[in-house]
Amino acid sequence: MEKYVIKGGVPLVGEVEIGGAKNAALAILAAAIMSDETVYIDNMPDEADTNAMLQAISSTGAFVDRTGRHSVKINASQIHDYTIENDYIKKIRASYYLLGALLGKYKKAGVVLPGGCNIGLRPIDQHIKGFTALGASVNIEHGIIDARADKLVGSHIYLDVVSVGATINIMMAAAMAEGKTIIENAAKEPHVVDFANFLNSMGANIKGAGTDVIRIKGVEKFHGTEYTIIPDQIEAGTFMLAAAATKGDITVKNVIPKHLESISAKLIEMGCQIQESDDAVRVVATRRLQNTHVKTLPYPGYPTDMQPQITVALGLASGISIVTESIFENRFKYVDELTRMGASIKVEGSTAIIEGVDKYTGAVVSAPDLRAGAALVIAALTAEGYSTIEDIKYIERGYEDLDVKLRELGAHIEKVDSDRDIQKFKLKNA
Ligand code: UD1
Repeated sequence: MEKYVIKGGVPLVGEVEIGGAKNAALAILAAAIMSDETVYIDNMPDEADTNAMLQAISSTGAFVDRTGRHSVKINASQIHDYTIENDYIKKIRASYYLLGALLGKYKKAGVVLPGGCNIGLRPIDQHIKGFTALGASVNIEHGIIDARADKLVGSHIYLDVVSVGATINIMMAAAMAEGKTIIENAAKEPHVVDFANFLNSMGANIKGAGTDVIRIKGVEKFHGTEYTIIPDQIEAGTFMLAAAATKGDITVKNVIPKHLESISAKLIEMGCQIQESDDAVRVVATRRLQNTHVKTLPYPGYPTDMQPQITVALGLASGISIVTESIFENRFKYVDELTRMGASIKVEGSTAIIEGVDKYTGAVVSAPDLRAGAALVIAALTAEGYSTIEDIKYIERGYEDLDVKLRELGAHIEKVDSDRDIQKFKLKNA
């Protein structure tokens, strides 16, 4: 089992190139099978989740050609399988996007119930509500969600909760339905907008993505396209928090600074300097961080996927900070691991009360999920001594070359798979 071994205490300094957005890529790859013509996708991150999605797509009979590490060519004119239940798709949450894509195009779809990070209950009732409103019948049997319809007809759908997944899935099904669909209380995340732009580039007629109300006029078919995925807001944010926590100076490059505003605002409250340019953000932290309060919210609020990273940084800030998680109810599981590194954090329900400590100390910890795993890496980068992060398979679901990029910023980190390698690392970095 691969692990990261880290020697902490080095401020991270330099520039880091941010890759394509995982959560946009997953939806875009799924929707690529809605066209019979060839679709070229660029700036695709090379991560376990996107690779699982590509495998699932090719299991339907679609032609998938990885033209480069970050580019893929998909032609789905020969699809013959509308039920997807292979092992790789079980692992990813975004498997549900294949439901919207297949239902929209072929009016029938079966997908094994979604997996993904265990960060709380993750119901899909709003997806089902949307599909049903468009005329589909949806059944769950033997662990598979089956959706089918003679035809899909546009509808007026009000989402009871702001859901990224349901907004995107309903957009897919409605984009090829007869007539008009209106989605109210839609999610506004950057990847929702990117996804709508992608569908429009294939000939869909979607307006209002990025606002609460999305209007869709169904079209009969999609054509081919060439599309470049937006930069990953969460990867960028993770490096920004790593700069803050290690008292470093990092410029995240190839980003859309507007997407990072909620993170930049919190870093300024914590005493960091932020410099924005057209496609880069520099974070400079020269002294001890100050406490602040954070509440996760749908975009443009502070992202839940950046909650563990800021909690780790605030664990080192002066004073008491409060972090409230309002999206997923089980997202503080990593706090036990962080406590073993010396953090002083009390979790009460969906709130963490953080009393800043002067330093963390290295320990063997295990990544409980993707973003919490990245947060533990940040903690280890600041910590006195050596840390080992186990279960990095979670981290690799959504970060490409995290260890390589951190090394380029001066971190002492290596991916190892034996105790002997850990010893070698310790000798090298003694
Ligand atoms: C997506 C992201 C995930 C991110 C989350 C919130 C992907 C692959 N994953 O997840 O990284 O943390 O958005 O920004 O893009 N809910 C319901 N019923 C539903 C759907 C959702 O009650 O049918 C609830 C969820 O339990 C949660 C909230 O709505 O409390 C938001 O979930 P949602 O936006 O749907 O998250 P995902 O799309 O699963």
